Amino acid sequence: MSASAHPFVGRASAAVRRRSFIGLVGGGAVLAAAGWFVGGSAELPEDAILPWRIADREADVRRFMLAHALLAPNPHNLQAWIADLREAGRIHLTCDGERVLPETDPFGRQVLIGCGAFLELAVIAAAQRGVAARVELFPDGPPADRELPKGSRVATLALGEPGSAPADPLFAQIVRRHTRKTAYENNRPLPQALVRSWAETATRFGLRIGVADGAAAMDPIRRITREAYEIEAITPRTWLESARLMRIGPDAIAANRDGISLNSPMVRALHTAGLFDPMEVPVNGSKTLERVMDRWVPFETASGFLWLASPANSRPMQVASGRAYVRAHLLATAAGADMHPLSQALQEFPEMRGPREALHRTLGLGAAGETLQMLSRVGFATEPTGPSARRGLDALVRT
Ligand SMILES: Cc1cc2nc3c(=O)[nH]c(=O)nc-3n(C[C@H](O)[C@H](O)[C@H](O)COP(=O)(O)O)c2cc1C
Repeated sequence: MSASAHPFVGRASAAVRRRSFIGLVGGGAVLAAAGWFVGGSAELPEDAILPWRIADREADVRRFMLAHALLAPNPHNLQAWIADLREAGRIHLTCDGERVLPETDPFGRQVLIGCGAFLELAVIAAAQRGVAARVELFPDGPPADRELPKGSRVATLALGEPGSAPADPLFAQIVRRHTRKTAYENNRPLPQALVRSWAETATRFGLRIGVADGAAAMDPIRRITREAYEIEAITPRTWLESARLMRIGPDAIAANRDGISLNSPMVRALHTAGLFDPMEVPVNGSKTLERVMDRWVPFETASGFLWLASPANSRPMQVASGRAYVRAHLLATAAGADMHPLSQALQEFPEMRGPREALHRTLGLGAAGETLQMLSRVGFATEPTGPSARRGLDALVRT
């Protein structure tokens, strides 16, 4: 569930109060009124976004790599990365078992995609310092296919000699890349050079990428992703997994620097007034669910949907998908375009089986185990949004 996809609804214990309030002025008016009276800014607190500003200050090559790697896109911004620096010339990356999503990502596929993105940014940052970083995947063997990769070593990065790698032109985009979750322009074509560079990137990692554009291709995807979002919302354990990760307001965001940041003046005001309780699970037919689904509307705006698929759903392929995905996003950033993953329909919990299979069929995937690893809307955000929160480097480094 994305940060911007949650409804602004009342606390369960205040349900009666909320219903009469909304009944009086109407749901939309409640939000408008709260925004009107509150003022303030949705910008995240400076402390929470500091890692975006200081990544290039690290003198030590491995810390420089990690300061950039931790800016990687990752599911629910949980940042499930532990980097062990105890062996000279190497970084051992472990998946932090405390930062996984057992309900919406029961086998850790998405968390490994986030690890792949982390590794790729580390490699790009090393090259910026003239150092080649070789990725040795799963030095202790891959985690079992249907178990969370809790605490297992995902990769070792082995550093080469100074002068062993040329700079990567995408380096400059690392601190500029942001997942924009606002409305996108509709019908604005994507630059053909960008689409070609995405395909080249996928091929380089043994993957396949495609863009679905035009109403005939996009409408079925819109239908499936909407249905998937509703399933995630009304399934109590998946809804609550996201709800527990919400950080509402600057103090909570600064204190945690991970998860789902909610900082618009409106949400803060409703939360303070007891009119927004993220722990209230939307039920079928309720006003709450209606408002949840309203929040999905901007997510149907886009120039197209970008999909990324692997020939099989192996652990190395999941990591490769993360590496390719972040490069695709950096390429988009360089071209002034935006990307926003919509992952609900790809998730492996049993209730999601219908949308997952429908999406594979719609995209012509699924033969011989071909697996959809990422689906993102792509295009041009109508309003710029800034960086998401990040924990500092020292939170993930072990020395
Ligand atoms: C595997 C994966 C799945 C993701 N799924 C979603 C999603 O379903 N909805 C969403 O809003 N963002 C999704 N994201 C984007 C993350 O929310 C985003 O990367 C994270 O909040 C950090 O923000 P940033 O990318 O701007 O640095 C996903 C990212 C990854 C790597």
